[in-house]
Formats: sequence, C-alpha cells, structure tokens
Amino acid sequence: MPYINLYAPTGPSPLEDGMNPTVATDPTSQPSPAVPPFLELYELTTGAWLTQAISTAARLGVADAIASGASTTAEIAQEVGAHASTLHRLMRALSDHGVFAQGPGDRFALTPMGESLRSDGSHSLRRWAIWTGARFYRDAWSDLEQAVRTGEPSFARVHGTDLFGYLGAHPDDAAVFDGAMQDIAGNFLAGILSVYDFSSYSTVVDVGGGTGALLSAILRAAPSARGVLLDTPPVLTAAEPVLRAAGIADRCQTALETSSTKCHPEPTSTSSVTSSTTGTTTTRCASCRPVGPPCARTPSCW
Ligand SMILES: C[S@@+](CC[C@H](N)C(=O)[O-])C[C@H]1O[C@@H](n2cnc3c(N)ncnc32)[C@H](O)[C@@H]1O
Repeated sequence: MPYINLYAPTGPSPLEDGMNPTVATDPTSQPSPAVPPFLELYELTTGAWLTQAISTAARLGVADAIASGASTTAEIAQEVGAHASTLHRLMRALSDHGVFAQGPGDRFALTPMGESLRSDGSHSLRRWAIWTGARFYRDAWSDLEQAVRTGEPSFARVHGTDLFGYLGAHPDDAAVFDGAMQDIAGNFLAGILSVYDFSSYSTVVDVGGGTGALLSAILRAAPSARGVLLDTPPVLTAAEPVLRAAGIADRCQTALETSSTKCHPEPTSTSSVTSSTTGTTTTRCASCRPVGPPCARTPSCW
C-alpha cells in the first residue's frame, strides 16, 4: 500500500512518532515502509473519494483527451469542458495513485492504468468507472446501514424499486449500467474462455446476459454454436448493435424474438422431439431456432 502524503516528505515518520507500525513478516520480502494500522484504516475510509475521483475523470473523458494530445491542465480542461484549477487538483490526486503521471510544466500523461480509462483501450474500464461513481448507484450504498439493520435491499429503499425496475424507467442510467457490464464482461472474458471450451455445445444460453458481450465472445470462440440471449426488452434492444459488431447476430436469438412470435415464416421441414420425462412427442419446424415461441404454422412446435 503506498504511503499517503500525510507523512511524506515533510511530516514526522510514524516510527519517530512512536506509533505502532504494521511490520512485514514475509522473510523473503524486502523491508517495506511500515504503515501504522490507523493509517491503513484511514486509506480504506477514503476509498470512496478515490472511486469518485476516478469516476469523474472517466465521465469527463480525461484519458481520451490526453490520448488525443492534450497534456497541460488548461488543454485538458478545454477539451473536456472543465474548470481548470479544480481539474488540476483532481489530476494531481489521481497521479498520486498512479492513474495519471504528472510531469514538469503542469503536464500530465497516461500511465498504463490510465490507459484503461480510455474509451477505446484494449482493457477499457471507463464505463465501469463511470458506473461506480454514478449518483443512482452511490445513493443506494449510502443506505447500507439500514440494509444491514433491517435486511431490506437498500436500492429499493432509496429508489422505491429494485435495480432492474429502476433501470427500466431510467434509460440514461441503464446505459451506464449496461456499459459497465460490457466492460466487465469484455475484460474478464479471456479468463473464462481459456478455462472453458464451449465449442462442443450447439446452443449457449446466457440468462440475464445484458447486452451480450459475454455471449458474443463465447459464440466467436465456438463458431458452430448458436446463442440465446435472455434479458429485459430495453437491454436486448441495446444488445443488437453489440451482437452485430461481434459478427454473431445471425447465430444469436434474443428474448425479444422469443416474446414476439418471430419464428421461421416458412418451415421447410419438421422434426419430432420426444420428452424423456413425459414421453410426449412434439413436433417443431426444423428451421426454428432451439428456443423459441410456439410456431404459428406448427402449433406443437416447442
Ligand atoms: C449483472 S447483469 C449481467 C450482465 C451480463 N452478464 C453481461 O455480461 O453484460 C444482470 C442482468 O440481468 C438482467 N435481468 C434482471 N432481471 C431480469 C429479468 N427479470 N429477466 C431478464 N433479465 C433480467 C438485467 O437486465 C441485467 O442485464
């Protein structure tokens, strides 16, 4: 954990101050500066400030501005539409934590961490960062004490409806949430795909699959599989461009299609399916996708 600047470089050392430091006990590790427990706790208590600072930089698009050539505070402020001296303090705070690097002459550059705040970075977490500081989300955290006291979810206490009900009625906040989910899915996909081989499955269903970032990656890794994306109608509408951009839209059915009677209009042939539990045989049109509504032309289509 990095030292906070309370004690560096001009403040008294915690050791000189007679405080009780946490001492590294791993014998193989290099001696590291001891951090008194109360300072560790202090850092934890200010985590929300840091979250909000990162989220604000993400929302303003600071990393994108730097990537496009702005480097002084004035240039960045001009680019993102911010108050220069206040932005300067935000940049300094985030530079202390390695998000940006402060150079001479009031210039700032992106660090590898800061690269992830760019919209188009290969491991972008910009939309996730925006979400973590979004008012509708933070407001719910503010009520955590009541949730712990009563067992009632704080989101519903604060907003009068649960998260997904709220998002259904607030499209702008829903876009923030969906973007955050895409960032998470996009950044942790490599790990999932490297440990799980989906290629032997003919159909992969992602229940509550958001805008389909995860399912898109799975289908790209399993070229003969078809996908079914189940989510709420507004989310599925937002999923359409994601599925198209991934090049798997023609292999992926969404719950919107399920709920509208979108079935192959002209079934060319039918196949029979016998349930192993009930023994009932039903017929479906062979061209139907695996999960679909009853086909209008073939009433027993599953
Ligand atoms: C935590 S997010 C998962 C995001 C997703 N895994 C991704 O990679 O983007 C949970 C998802 O469940 C969906 N959801 C919540 N309630 C639902 C419901 N009753 N029916 C369908 N989807 C629902 C939400 O809209 C949201 O997209």
